[in-house]
Amino acid sequence: MKDKILILLKENRDGFISGEKISDKFGVSRSAIWKYMNTLKEEGYEIESIPRKGYRLISSPDTLTYGEVEEYLETKFIGRKIYYFDTIDSTNIKAKELAYKEDEGTLVIAEEQTLGRGRLGRTWISPKKKGIWMSIILKPSIDPMKVAKITQIGAAAIALALEDLGIEAFIKWPNDIVMNGKKVCGILTEMSCELNMINYVIMGVGINVNLGSEDFSGEVSNVGTSLKIQSGKVIDRKKLLGLFLNRFEELYIPFVGKDDFFETLKVCREKSILIGKEVRIIRGKDEEKGKVLGINDDGELIIDYGNGKIENVLSGEVSV
Ligand code: BTN
Repeated sequence: MKDKILILLKENRDGFISGEKISDKFGVSRSAIWKYMNTLKEEGYEIESIPRKGYRLISSPDTLTYGEVEEYLETKFIGRKIYYFDTIDSTNIKAKELAYKEDEGTLVIAEEQTLGRGRLGRTWISPKKKGIWMSIILKPSIDPMKVAKITQIGAAAIALALEDLGIEAFIKWPNDIVMNGKKVCGILTEMSCELNMINYVIMGVGINVNLGSEDFSGEVSNVGTSLKIQSGKVIDRKKLLGLFLNRFEELYIPFVGKDDFFETLKVCREKSILIGKEVRIIRGKDEEKGKVLGINDDGELIIDYGNGKIENVLSGEVSV
């Protein structure tokens, strides 16, 4: 109900909407409406209320609730339900708890994570209201072997959403988004499956949106950066989130529906920062040098080791 009232307030931004009108429309009492207005105010909405005129929305807070993101969404099911937390340990942990009972496309999002996790057991800094820290619950009916491609769909969707905002970023295969060689976004995909059936996939995405240099201390400052630092401007988190979810669904539907990975591949190739570069392929303690020839139709990295050996790499840690 609260979200419905908010949408109505947003549709009537230019004028007042009376309590009576809201009450007739939704069949709730005037006093219930008054309570919803107070809850919205507590959440940071500035609402003017004048006796006999009604309510008017003056400003909205910078929060990633469904009520705030909805106006940017063009999706059918991705992000159509959002679990929103002010603070949480990790959105991936929460998404795993919810995965069995929730529908595909449900999002877990938090303004801050106290135990944000990155790949290979690393920690992921997630300061309050400065980034987009989220996990999407997915239930694709595909071969579990193909799940790595969902991460690439995520990376392509981020690159496209940033392009929509006029920001040029690159993909460091398979799932990092970089600007000037430093990471602005990472993806941590986890899954629960049986031999040939997926129970669920959790795609955790961390976008360093408006972090400042003070947020990157020590070692992290050499590898991490933010969109704000790189572009020199504060980025609208709600809009970016909406754009990303739209782009993700656009690429995800053809992939799960008809195994069509074409558009994702195109973006991953065009935006690749590795193709043509000499790289180090890291597997545990072992490291090998090679040149990246390209990305094959399965999304694997084609590496030429220079000794006659050419290999397709499915996943792993690659360093420039
Ligand atoms: C990486 O190491 O590059 C992956 C980083 C993934 C971070 C995101 S933030 C939201 C979600 N929750 C987590 O704990 N991790 C992912």
